[in-house]
Amino acid sequence: MISPCIVGWGHTRFGKHTERSIPSLIEEAVTEALSRAALSPEDIDAIFLGHFNGGFVGQDFSAPLVGLAIPALRTTPACRLENACATGSAAIWAARDSVASGRVRRALVVGVEKMTERTSTEAGEILLRCSFTEEERSTPGGFAGIFARFAQAYFERYGDQSDALAHIAAKNHANGCSNPYAHFQKDLGLAFCKTASERNPYVAGPLKRSDCSPVTDGAAALVIANEARPSASVPAISWLSATQVNDSFPMSTRDLTQFGAARLAWQKGLRDARITLDDLSLVETHDCFTIAELMQYEAMGLCAAGEAARVACDGSTHKEGRLPVNPSGGLKSKGHPIGATGVSMHVMAAMQLSHMAGGMQVAKASRAAVFNMGGSGVANYLSVLQPL
Ligand code: COA
Repeated sequence: MISPCIVGWGHTRFGKHTERSIPSLIEEAVTEALSRAALSPEDIDAIFLGHFNGGFVGQDFSAPLVGLAIPALRTTPACRLENACATGSAAIWAARDSVASGRVRRALVVGVEKMTERTSTEAGEILLRCSFTEEERSTPGGFAGIFARFAQAYFERYGDQSDALAHIAAKNHANGCSNPYAHFQKDLGLAFCKTASERNPYVAGPLKRSDCSPVTDGAAALVIANEARPSASVPAISWLSATQVNDSFPMSTRDLTQFGAARLAWQKGLRDARITLDDLSLVETHDCFTIAELMQYEAMGLCAAGEAARVACDGSTHKEGRLPVNPSGGLKSKGHPIGATGVSMHVMAAMQLSHMAGGMQVAKASRAAVFNMGGSGVANYLSVLQPL
């Protein structure tokens, strides 16, 4: 079987792009990705678009928007994938399969979302459709309310972890200052993140604004090919393993003090890659809310159940720590334009492994993992990556 690899990437700045259309965001990310791969649109055999939408914008059937953005791609087969907040990873997964099968030589993956045409409350309502609506539709606080339920369950078992969440928020905001693509490039500081205030109010349960990823617009793109491109301006990045594990949909059927399927994804992904967590240089993980990053420390095996607060507070996951987590600033400060997020996370890892991450660069980065989660911990994707 052919081993697919990343041979180019592109990324718009994430943020509030009021004046820009979805095709204009796509065009910027794709043009950059093709240029890095030293390919022209005619070299692309298939397009996989990650776009959640769900009502953020009026346009559905958005796969043809890539051909609208880059007219030379208008006859290239294109389809759209959706898997809640893991939409971008679902598009990557399909592209990898098409290349691995030999049917496609070079696939273009695009992730895009335009969320800011909606208010935060409307965005929360739209995102709640990614819960198991029969039981969870009326959760107060939008999707923050869903993750507040995880926080409440975890706090009930292990005690109040608000300070640990503030450490995660402060770390990711500090890291975001070095990321030119990030929505927020401002160091909020630990004291701000720790303290509820007019500028940092409670949003849902124990989660404050500083515990939430923002409502963001943006696009990211990858070229995935069946071989390294000798003329590319970036090294090829390959997968040591690619894993997806799903969990039971209703939260009522699960132990909310842990992400069970995320743990399985990590165990399988590391086993398939024939490595341990200690062999990783960095992790880009799905901190849609700080409680998610906290609980993912346990899922990835950084510590035992109930001990994640120690890891959050002792600097282990800082850029110079034992295992840097979210050196890009994560979803928390980079932003979380739903369909673009999984693609963006892979771009960030590829930049690190190419030693082209600028101020975000983790010293001697040689192997990275990307963990992208959809819904309330339901769709779990793990990529373990290293240069070819
Ligand atoms: N973190 C830090 N600061 C934030 C922020 C966030 N998540 N969201 C907004 N801000 C800042 C804004 O930049 C603005 O600052 P300024 O006054 O200096 O310009 C200020 O807070 C007010 O912004 P506003 O957009 O009015 O805030 P809001 O209260 O309407 O929205 C949230 C804040 C947290 C409710 C919103 O970002 C949200 O809904 N996030 C969750 C999105 C989500 O569910 N994603 C899916 C995850 S699975």
